[in-house]
Amino acid sequence: MIKHPHTVTFTLNGELKTFITRPDEKLLDLLRREGYKGTKYGCGQGTCGACTVLMDGRAIYSCLLFAMQAENRDVRTIESVGTHEKPSEFQQELIDGAAVQCGFCIPGMIMSAEALMQAEDTYPDDIVREYMDGNLCRCTGYEKIWGALRRVLDRKEGNGVQGSGASSRPKS
Ligand code: FES
Ligand code: FES
Repeated sequence: MIKHPHTVTFTLNGELKTFITRPDEKLLDLLRREGYKGTKYGCGQGTCGACTVLMDGRAIYSCLLFAMQAENRDVRTIESVGTHEKPSEFQQELIDGAAVQCGFCIPGMIMSAEALMQAEDTYPDDIVREYMDGNLCRCTGYEKIWGALRRVLDRKEGNGVQGSGASSRPKS
């Protein structure tokens, strides 16, 4: 059946953009076909977190949202975080801590961490787990990712503790 094209307009990584879409197109599919391929397709069912983007500052699964639901919203993808030349603090810690294996989960992890750092001023482990527990990693066992994030958060909290949370895990 031929679908009638619709348009959707939203702010994407700071720029107002209009895209042609279909009523049944998911935001994840729109982003990827428009070249924002840092946002990954994992499960397509809202369980893995690989497709995480920010919408109005909150982490959402873009595989569950219809593209039309982004109308007038502020969407941020991994492409808005750091660059090869100047990675974000968390990206640098992931590199320095050898915390990335296949890397498929990492963009989603970074976006959930962005949501955390935008919304909270303090970062106790239980709060951090709440933000990060929607992101699964099939490779690393989480330890090094958690340690990398904990080092960033510890610095933000100003306690200067390096890797204080490295032994506590966001998931079992
Ligand atoms: S692809 Fe969206 S949660 Fe897995
Ligand atoms: S590094 Fe491979 S899924 Fe996380």
